[in-house]
Amino acid sequence: MKTQTAFACSTCGYASQKWFGRCPDCGDWSTAASPLRDTSSLRVIELGTAAPSIPACVSTGIAEVDRALGGLVPGEVLLLTGEPGIGKSTLVLQVLTRLRAAGLSVLLGTGEETVAQIAARAQRLSWRDAGDVAVTACSSTGTLAEVVAAGTYDVVAIDSVQTLRDESVDHGSGSVTQVRESVLRLAEAARRSGTILLLIGHVTKDGSVAGPKILEHVVDAVVSLEGVRGEPLRFLRALKNRYGSCDETGVFEMTHAGLAPLDDPSNMLLADRSRASGTVVFPSLVGSRPLLVEVQALVADSELPQPRRVALGVEQRRLTMALAVVAERLKLTVGKRDVFVAVAGGVVVREPAIDLALVLALLSAIAKVAIGEDVVAFGELGLAGEFRRVQGAERRLSEARRLGFRRALVPPALAATSTLRAVPVRDVHSALAFLAPDAR
Ligand code: TYD
Ligand code: MG
Repeated sequence: MKTQTAFACSTCGYASQKWFGRCPDCGDWSTAASPLRDTSSLRVIELGTAAPSIPACVSTGIAEVDRALGGLVPGEVLLLTGEPGIGKSTLVLQVLTRLRAAGLSVLLGTGEETVAQIAARAQRLSWRDAGDVAVTACSSTGTLAEVVAAGTYDVVAIDSVQTLRDESVDHGSGSVTQVRESVLRLAEAARRSGTILLLIGHVTKDGSVAGPKILEHVVDAVVSLEGVRGEPLRFLRALKNRYGSCDETGVFEMTHAGLAPLDDPSNMLLADRSRASGTVVFPSLVGSRPLLVEVQALVADSELPQPRRVALGVEQRRLTMALAVVAERLKLTVGKRDVFVAVAGGVVVREPAIDLALVLALLSAIAKVAIGEDVVAFGELGLAGEFRRVQGAERRLSEARRLGFRRALVPPALAATSTLRAVPVRDVHSALAFLAPDAR
């Protein structure tokens, strides 16, 4: 017999046969609602006979933004997230400036900065056309929703959702309920009038601030601006996109004149490269584009009772796993020493393909033997110590060749496809043998 859902959480959609006071999934209280209603009036249509709606796309006028978003669609509600200070306000003002110059009517609602501050920034950046962007310091959800519903503007941006205040909701600005209710109201108005709604939302490093997370299912697209403050590189990637793909990433450099598209990020990242032991170049993939980054490792005597394991730009669990596999399969331990690994230039790599470069950097740091400077390495590490193939090998290799690398350390399965001189690395033993041929 088919089991039927009796209750669903009105916040996150969690379904259960039993009533619940607090949703076990999202943790909200009193959200259990019965979705079972009389279905006799339900209108259904076969998919093949439905007219597909493929709305016309609006270009943002900034190719790297379009690349990440696939353009904007009338009625689309987009959430731009990122840590404070990463460049969200800058990017949105840039986009609005371009859209205005393309003849669209645009409005920026700011609760974060004063209108005078934004004017000063636009002037300092001397962006042509920024002067034509309409700005309001209003952060009342009700008033803004009326403007959006009226369709007066083609594009309305709000900086930020955390400063919105819906007078009919009995919670302070920035609270989860306040943010959610405000965005729901604005999104509904935008869909009705076909206004493009650009919302800015802050997240902290671990992405934990309640605002943006709970909005993900309310909006059509979530794009995140990432990077390390103090470093110039910025990545714009779509985490969710109802009107386009999530495969592409825009790459920018934060300059004195705002965010500038970056043509050759690999070259920039390798400019300050070190040739010391413990470093190796990893051809990563950012969306479909290859990006060469330097992976560094340092193993140093520790003064602490609990030695440190620090990973910057690499997932901590990748470091933990690499150390465990090296210790177990090679009987090579770092013992009570501190271990630091980092990806230079403020890039954050989340691909398993970095494992081989990580292991090589660690072994090179432990053995104090430099890896050749003409070497790149990539491959995923298995728990048995073996290296496995990863996707995008050709793109990674051709970027490495373009920048003058001659040898590629790759899992054996990829050696045949290599356009560089391939050095097959079957497992951690072969990685060590490459570094220190006499050690074994
Ligand atoms: P901002 O867009 O205000 O960040 P967010 O809205 O995400 O908090 O920009 C943050 C930093 O960027 C700011 O500290 C200064 C720097 N910046 C530049 O380097 N160049 C520029 O042209 C601008 C506008 C900002
Ligand atoms: Mg800001």
